Amino acid sequence: MPDLPSWLAPSTIPHAEKRVIGSVIRFLPDHPSTNLWAMEELSAGAEEGLVLVTDHQTKGRGQQGTRWESEKGKNLTFSVVLRAKGLESQLFDLSKAIGLAMQKALSALLPRANVQIKWPNDLLIDQKKVAGILIESQWEGSRLKGTVVGIGLNVNQTQFMPVIAPRTTSLAREAGKPFDRRGVWMCLLDHLEEGYRTFQTEGRGSLARQYLSVLYGYQEPVQIRWQGGAGKYPILGVNEQGHLAIQLPEGIRHFDLKEVEFVWE
Ligand code: BTN
Repeated sequence: MPDLPSWLAPSTIPHAEKRVIGSVIRFLPDHPSTNLWAMEELSAGAEEGLVLVTDHQTKGRGQQGTRWESEKGKNLTFSVVLRAKGLESQLFDLSKAIGLAMQKALSALLPRANVQIKWPNDLLIDQKKVAGILIESQWEGSRLKGTVVGIGLNVNQTQFMPVIAPRTTSLAREAGKPFDRRGVWMCLLDHLEEGYRTFQTEGRGSLARQYLSVLYGYQEPVQIRWQGGAGKYPILGVNEQGHLAIQLPEGIRHFDLKEVEFVWE
């Protein structure tokens, strides 16, 4: 295993031994996908909190079978292995907690930015995607063996593929200057650690309230499309199964991830 690059080196991480997330960090200069790598490590018995990072992800995975493209050496692409007991029934709450931790970290890095979560857990700045989260789990029958939280954050990349460019941004684009990845990395790790601890100690209510307070389209009409319909309707919330509640003229309808998409105007 290669040494960690300076911006990831353990000496930069205060109290590494007391952390859950980032207690052990491994780095590879290139890897197809840190989520795939983490799934392999999970199968091999990796411990809770292991973080796997690469500087060049060649087949990054996104939600619903999409690709996550990230320019070499510019961004952050990493995955965290989680194994807490009882996660089976809390996977959507975990997704909320990670989304909120990222929202707080990005707000700390860009204090004047309007950082929102687009259901279920995309991070937006002024309706442009700056980070994505892919949570994947390993099951043994109905028992959850473990979960992988994969995060891609656009840090210093300023050019994006034409198909996503109008709806994509990075910290550097927003600030008009490059960021030191060491500082960004530390900020993310700290917020993820705090968010994970809060998730384990506080009830669903607190997470739900915070999530709605930063949810894109909450109580505001947003353009959506589903099989058989389209229009501009307000989001009312998200239920315990993680389904999006939308106020349609005929009543409230709950959508799961595959059933609805946001349409950008
Ligand atoms: C999405 O918004 O579609 C989710 C993107 C998740 C990308 C990250 S990058 C690190 C980790 N490894 C992957 O292959 N995907 C996630």
